[in-house]
Amino acid sequence: MSYPTNTNQHLTIEDVDTIELAKKYGTPLYVYDVSHIRQTIRAFKQVFEQEKIPFVISYAGKAFATKAIYQVVAQEGIHADVVSGGELYTALAAGFPAAHLSFNGNNKSYDELTFAVKQGVGTIIVDNFLELKLLSEIAEKNAIKQDILLRISPGISAHTHEFISTGQQDSKFGFDLISGQAKEAFDIAINDDHLNLRGLHAHIGSQIFDVTGFEQNAALVADTANAWGWQPEVINAGGGFGIKYTDEDKPLPESEFAQAIIRVLKAKAAEYDWKMPEIWIEPGRSIVGPAGKTLYTIGSRKDIPDIRHYLAVDGGMGDNIRPALYQANYTAVLANQPNAQTEEVVRVAGKYCESGDVLVWQQALPAIKPGDILAVNATGAYGYAMASNYNRNPRPAVVFVENGQHQLIVERETFEHLVSLDRDYTLGE
Ligand code: LLP
Repeated sequence: MSYPTNTNQHLTIEDVDTIELAKKYGTPLYVYDVSHIRQTIRAFKQVFEQEKIPFVISYAGKAFATKAIYQVVAQEGIHADVVSGGELYTALAAGFPAAHLSFNGNNKSYDELTFAVKQGVGTIIVDNFLELKLLSEIAEKNAIKQDILLRISPGISAHTHEFISTGQQDSKFGFDLISGQAKEAFDIAINDDHLNLRGLHAHIGSQIFDVTGFEQNAALVADTANAWGWQPEVINAGGGFGIKYTDEDKPLPESEFAQAIIRVLKAKAAEYDWKMPEIWIEPGRSIVGPAGKTLYTIGSRKDIPDIRHYLAVDGGMGDNIRPALYQANYTAVLANQPNAQTEEVVRVAGKYCESGDVLVWQQALPAIKPGDILAVNATGAYGYAMASNYNRNPRPAVVFVENGQHQLIVERETFEHLVSLDRDYTLGE
């Protein structure tokens, strides 16, 4: 694969020199290609527009939730889904229209639900019986009728890592369909004066390559509503569309996932003689994942004869926990000279005090020296979003790049930030 470079042979992102970015903003540094994000959103939209059916694309903010990304998403005219008071606060602070937000989550608190209702969040995706009760009370108190969807766990196992598979029956998310809990919840919701039940939501998992699970899921949701004698206004098929991290990953284009869901629901609407329901999808990873790279500075190395070469960088599991948590694979590129001949097979490790602190398990790279800049590809989803201060490392900065320009959208944390919430202990004095 050949990477874009400038006359200095440096890796570029949208014509911006990554070595310059590393110099200006420091490393580790998350860099996002905003045009790439816009293109993906537009590709999703185009599928629905061509089919001329009502739709909502809701960016799953959990993949990367900052004010700047919510602003880009709002500019593109799509909705967003939040899963905590903090994500909701961030979206609102970004100026995101509350009516275009949905709120997911299996244990939303009374305070979070109140905040959402008071702010005018468009749709609450109700997950469980307690939430049904709380939300009804809160809506009544605030004299509104809240639009909701019911989240069901469809009992479909997606072929992905166990930790990111959510649709199987043994799942903490949603109302169980098989045991009849979903129908019970439906009967409560449809008769509640303070809740306006618009439809159903079912999400099967994340980083999925195959359309079969999505097709089965969409069909099951439609069949379920029909079996309840009900015509839903909305069917939300969730997110989970897989992306390419390494050459082994062969995801379909995002349009094909959307098309598969549309195909099934069109057929079901015809079969049941329904007005075409609004189709909602909630992609997170596929919108931001491929658009992000993380830049690191190379430091020490360790060569274990006949066993392995370790290259260490100035970040690691604190800015990308996915390899340690899910055995996720990534690829890296020498940003100083991305298209140079490869020389040795290495493992790229981080600087954290943990053996599983790996960024790239195994890859051939050119000869590398301390101070070189390494870019890890496709880190835009669940990287910054899952970043931590483990070992009291400050979290990296985030830069957006578009049309040859760059802008800092999250500042780098400092040591002062790390102690800013700490308080001295004085009781033992
Ligand atoms: N909608 C719901 C209800 C979800 O639970 C999720 C992801 C999404 C949408 C977005 O899925 P996406 O399009 O991003 O695959 N931390 C894990 C991923 C957890 C996904 C959780 N739910 C990872 O790093 O792989």
